[in-house]
Amino acid sequence: MSNSSLRVGIAGLGRLGKRHAEQLARHTPGAVLSAACSPVPAELEWARTELGVRRCHADYADLLADPEIDAVVLVTPTTLHADQASAALRAGKHVFVEKPLSLDVATCEAVEAVAREHPDRVAMVGFVRRFDPSYARAKAAIDAGQLGRPFLVRSQTCDQNDPEGFFVRFAPSSGGIFMDCSVHDIDLARWMLGNPKALRAFASGTIALHPGLADCGDVDNGLAIVEFEGGQRAVFYASRTMPHGHETTTEVIGSAGTVQIGHGAHADRTEFRTAAGVQHAALPDFFARFADAFRIEMEAFVAACRGEIAPPLTLSDATEATRIGQAITASLRSGQPVEIKS
Ligand code: NAI
Repeated sequence: MSNSSLRVGIAGLGRLGKRHAEQLARHTPGAVLSAACSPVPAELEWARTELGVRRCHADYADLLADPEIDAVVLVTPTTLHADQASAALRAGKHVFVEKPLSLDVATCEAVEAVAREHPDRVAMVGFVRRFDPSYARAKAAIDAGQLGRPFLVRSQTCDQNDPEGFFVRFAPSSGGIFMDCSVHDIDLARWMLGNPKALRAFASGTIALHPGLADCGDVDNGLAIVEFEGGQRAVFYASRTMPHGHETTTEVIGSAGTVQIGHGAHADRTEFRTAAGVQHAALPDFFARFADAFRIEMEAFVAACRGEIAPPLTLSDATEATRIGQAITASLRSGQPVEIKS
């Protein structure tokens, strides 16, 4: 274990990158946000003035060449993750990369190969839900045998409708609703079921509100079934059109019991009973739902880089999630079940 702080450089200061940057600069023990990288001058100016980051780089190669950086946090567009993660490892940096690692299995495996050449560097992918206290508690109960043998996961990621359709513009590079949203549910299902081998996927979907998605073969509501070896199954639902708020929920069904995580989308613990009925405020978005998880996730990455804990998840978790997500997406497009080859 090292006594000095881990010096982190962040690449990407967009919607999520700003959150990670604030976390690292203000709230992550053992870490200091030393540098930031973005091609957008206003984003670097934000890092300078809001967070006091002095080492600002417009070019990612300059961030990697910065000798005062031990670790890189990648919050860049999905299409850049794999190459940037490999380059970080080759430059001798630890790397945290946002999900998904890549939209393509072969590319994920190529990053894994680079990571194997640098076994003393931590390479961790951002499946944030594993760090949510409720998901962690459910997983601990499953591991303790409280549900018997888990055989079915039903999991959904449902976002509040954005009438401006931010995600429609984002769709061509996000990989579609399953790779962008359900990849979290896929990872959770593998985790909760004990990492079984996935055999087959079938998906369907519909466009309820955002016809612009048709241009890139995407949908705003998608359904998928995945069959795993040993009879285990998972059902995924993803939606971009919820009127009330963000609702990520998961149910794990086992031979001796079930656990539900996140049902109800309550923003807080108030509930009103009036002539209008029973009402409570709903969570607006994933930031509100997973604020604690994002904090704990970054603490875990820093602790792993400092040698205090083993990395809680690996690049191969990312590869397997992409393998399943790719098959689901192929099934959505073909209308046929897709065999999943390992
Ligand atoms: P965004 O488009 O808001 O931000 C992307 C950022 O990357 C911008 O700051 C942009 O200037 C920067 N950038 C672009 N090219 C760059 C380069 N060559 N080098 C350095 N920076 C560069 O995107 P958003 O929504 O923040 O998503 C970023 C990633 O985070 C995506 O891969 C997405 O899948 C993932 N994500 C993960 C979530 C989770 O729940 N774990 C939630 C939201 C996003």
